[in-house]
Amino acid sequence: MNRVFSGVQPTGNLHLGNYLGAIKNWVTMQAHYDCLYCIVDLHAITVPQDPKVLRAATREVAAGLIAAGIDAKSSIVFNQSQVKGHAALAWILNCQTPIGWLNRMTQFKEKAGKAREQAGLGLYAYPVLMAADILLYKATHVPVGEDQKQHLELARDIAGAFNRAYGSDCFPLPEPMILGAATRVMSLRDGTKKMSKSDSSDYSRINLTDDAATIALKIKKAKTDSEPIVSYEPERRPEAANLIDIYAALAGQTCEAVTAEYSNAGFAAFKRALADLAVEKLGPLAADMRRLMQHPDYIDEVLRAGAERASHIADRNLREVEDIVGFLKP
Ligand code: TYM
Repeated sequence: MNRVFSGVQPTGNLHLGNYLGAIKNWVTMQAHYDCLYCIVDLHAITVPQDPKVLRAATREVAAGLIAAGIDAKSSIVFNQSQVKGHAALAWILNCQTPIGWLNRMTQFKEKAGKAREQAGLGLYAYPVLMAADILLYKATHVPVGEDQKQHLELARDIAGAFNRAYGSDCFPLPEPMILGAATRVMSLRDGTKKMSKSDSSDYSRINLTDDAATIALKIKKAKTDSEPIVSYEPERRPEAANLIDIYAALAGQTCEAVTAEYSNAGFAAFKRALADLAVEKLGPLAADMRRLMQHPDYIDEVLRAGAERASHIADRNLREVEDIVGFLKP
């Protein structure tokens, strides 16, 4: 059976990178797979969080997923901490993961920076928890942006290590799905940096809660080179290529088709068209998200019901794993 699992952290605003790299694909996958979409609050606390802000951000991300078109009746939408199996399986997988594998993770190196000795154990073990998220549901497909590729390779390695250690075929090896024209959306201020929640400049990203005027202004102000023509040269013109990728992903076209369409129009005209397209596609999403955020009780109920459904699958699989490992049944 094919099952999709993916996750998003409730830290800061959802942005266009999250949408084009992940959430937009999650929406389309609902027609073809059983899908679980998880707001990973256990991952969020690997760096300091204000509890009030974390609670609000969890609800905001849930609102974003629903507004983007995730159907919480067919797909399972939930927050990670409500399903206790994630932490329990993560512990078992920690015991199968060589430290050397974790030492290679570039995201840990980036996040820990120079203060590596001060970094929390949770931040270090973050990718093992991610493997547990996926394997707890025996998910076969994991739609993510490019930046999660290394973590998914590790998840496959951990699944293989567990299966080999116990001579079982308990876990399928999950397949990463890195889809669409914008698998790595870059900052609007610097074409060599990933668009990210943690960038100090709000002009570097388009937030899914931005209104039409803000979206248009951010695209107008997006940094580009001074060449007036539209050409797709990611190495030489990274900022221009990023905007073309964004257009292509929003319009469901290829970068080649977009470049050809605007090759005579000039870059200023292309930017205006991109602003119109982004407002058309993202404006209604933002409005819906703002509307949903007025109803926290409704969102809490969606997450509670989602966690209940997720737990049915998780509890069964965790029991199987615990039995393989040799834990006595309760
Ligand atoms: P997170 O919260 O950083 O991002 C959520 C999703 O958005 C994608 N993404 C991007 N895609 C393209 N361009 C960008 N600039 C960009 N920024 C973010 C990410 O690739 C991701 O798909 N560790 C994960 C969450 C997670 C998870 C999992 C994912 C926890 N457990 C299990 C898959 C399976 C994370 O921090 O994503």
